[in-house]
Amino acid sequence: MSDFSPTREVAMTLFKEFNKSESLYRHALSVEAVMRYRALKEGADAEMWGIIGLIHDLDYEMYPDEHCIKSQEIMKERGWSDEYIRAIMSHGFGICTDVEPVSRLEKTLFAMDELTGLVTTSALVRPSRSILDMNSKSVRKKWNDRRFAAGVDRGIIEKGAAMLGEDLSSLIEDCIMGMREVAEEIGLRGNPGQES
Ligand SMILES: [Fe+2]
Ligand SMILES: [Fe+2]
Repeated sequence: MSDFSPTREVAMTLFKEFNKSESLYRHALSVEAVMRYRALKEGADAEMWGIIGLIHDLDYEMYPDEHCIKSQEIMKERGWSDEYIRAIMSHGFGICTDVEPVSRLEKTLFAMDELTGLVTTSALVRPSRSILDMNSKSVRKKWNDRRFAAGVDRGIIEKGAAMLGEDLSSLIEDCIMGMREVAEEIGLRGNPGQES
């Protein structure tokens, strides 16, 4: 059992060691920002929440068929503490692991991971291509159009919202607010205010 709590720099170096894709990098930054935003809102450990958001898909580029399982192996090897490992395993609950999200951190990761995808796609179809002038209504409008961002499993987001005991709109709102913090880095600055 290890009690190693990595710095963000260590987490970022590890992420880059295993991931070269720009889209996965942007996804990692998005989830990190949303986790930080939520932690600050709840008075929780923003550093830890952020790092877990950043590293949650560590193995996805190289080992998509062993998602979460390989991350566990790598993080154990590098001495990461069990708390971090358990949290990243739990985002694959019912998909690639049987580790159920229990803490607020884990439930938030479970819901927000999938939601960042829907928010990203919703921002990109706006005339401004910006997350800075977008609100939760734009995302809600796309919710029932299952052909829109078809890869996003709405059921997972609903399951996450239920675990947290929160409604979808406030979850979407927080997701947008968190991602705004890194709008530039995730390519969603666009031209805010542009009508068409
Ligand atoms: Fe994942
Ligand atoms: Fe993810």
